[in-house]
Amino acid sequence: MKKQVLVTGGVGYIGSHTVVELQNEGFEVFIVDNLSNSNIEVLDRIEKITGIRPHFEEFDLCDRTKVQAYFQKHENLEAIIHFAASKAVGESVEKPLLYYRNNLVSLMNLLEAMDQYNVPSIVFSSSCTVYGQPEVLPVTEEAPIQEATSPYGNTKQICEEILHDSISAYNGSVRGIALRYFNPIGAHATAEIGELPVGVPQNLVPYITQTAAGLRDELSIFGEDYDTADGTAVRDYIHVVDLAKAHVVAIRRLVEENNKKPLEFFNIGTGTGLTVLQLVQAFEKVTGKPLNYKIVGRRAGDIEKVWAETTFANEELGWKAESSVEETLASAWIWEKKIRNLD
Ligand code: NAD
Ligand code: WQD
Repeated sequence: MKKQVLVTGGVGYIGSHTVVELQNEGFEVFIVDNLSNSNIEVLDRIEKITGIRPHFEEFDLCDRTKVQAYFQKHENLEAIIHFAASKAVGESVEKPLLYYRNNLVSLMNLLEAMDQYNVPSIVFSSSCTVYGQPEVLPVTEEAPIQEATSPYGNTKQICEEILHDSISAYNGSVRGIALRYFNPIGAHATAEIGELPVGVPQNLVPYITQTAAGLRDELSIFGEDYDTADGTAVRDYIHVVDLAKAHVVAIRRLVEENNKKPLEFFNIGTGTGLTVLQLVQAFEKVTGKPLNYKIVGRRAGDIEKVWAETTFANEELGWKAESSVEETLASAWIWEKKIRNLD
């Protein structure tokens, strides 16, 4: 019998890519998503790629009664991957309670139901945002957690604590892995699924691809006076499919391997930092045409530089990011062109 995995937020950007990898690896996937930041058509796209339609229910994970009823009905779940959350940093400053409620209550409801209905494993979507500006780079999993710079970032820190305290209290019946993602970009090789930000993109790569596609006039590069090779900020950009594969490995570690550690944290990045300008240059190389951009002032709340030390994930999980930044940017560009009906 196939192992059953509940993927919350499985219609979203990272979730949908992970569902594809899970199905390709023989897992039976159950998605719960309230479609607050995604489109139901993604289920057709997943089916087109894998030949399998994941089970799907639409409801809000903050609804405790619905979560309980769902777990009662699905008694063979072996693991959960919890992607569902609100993720826009700027919006979280405007609407902090929306972020605290959505991100904390959904996790609490799931952890409560896991205990009651004997679901033993959870993989949680955390973020490198918990490190703030690390003192030592590349940043390891042991680096101190810094005071959050946004309510969104704070929800990830608090969720890690909720996870830790609940798993400790459950005394061995639930185990977890928190994956701290660096900057996920790119799209599936089929260009059936990818990132579809609502409105003006806040993140760099969708802004770049929309500028190249003619939807935006020019990219504003935020800051050129950082202490980096060319003065622009440094990040660790990881292909979303590499990131998705890390979830399959994490699930296998929880459900198949004889690993008894209650809770582990892994950095999921490439291990390489790139400046904004280096990323723009790589994109220009991929498309063969120049990108319109201008340098403007720093963006409030941005950190200067962060990239991952990935040795722990490489050695313990046996996982490594495989795509080059050019391949990754090419996938983002092919996706953008497809959704805009260009060439
Ligand atoms: P996304 O918005 O594309 O996907 C999240 C999905 O969860 C959406 O389909 C949304 O409809 C759903 N959802 C939200 N709240 C829900 C609720 N209460 N009940 C049911 N469904 C709900 O986001 P993503 O980029 O795929 O991110 C997935 C996870 O990874 C999030 O937890 C995010 O914080 C985390 N993360 C993302 C990034 C990034 O840059 N994309 C980086 C680090 C961590
Ligand atoms: C990358 C770099 C910008 C847009 C955010 C969240 C983080 C995480 C991922 C979830 C920065 C620069 C950007 C633009 C630019 N999400 N930039 N012009 O800021 O690393 O991380 O998303 O956990 O929590 O904070 O990603 O893509 O927004 O920015 O110059 O129009 O690109 O200043 O240096 P960031 P990003």
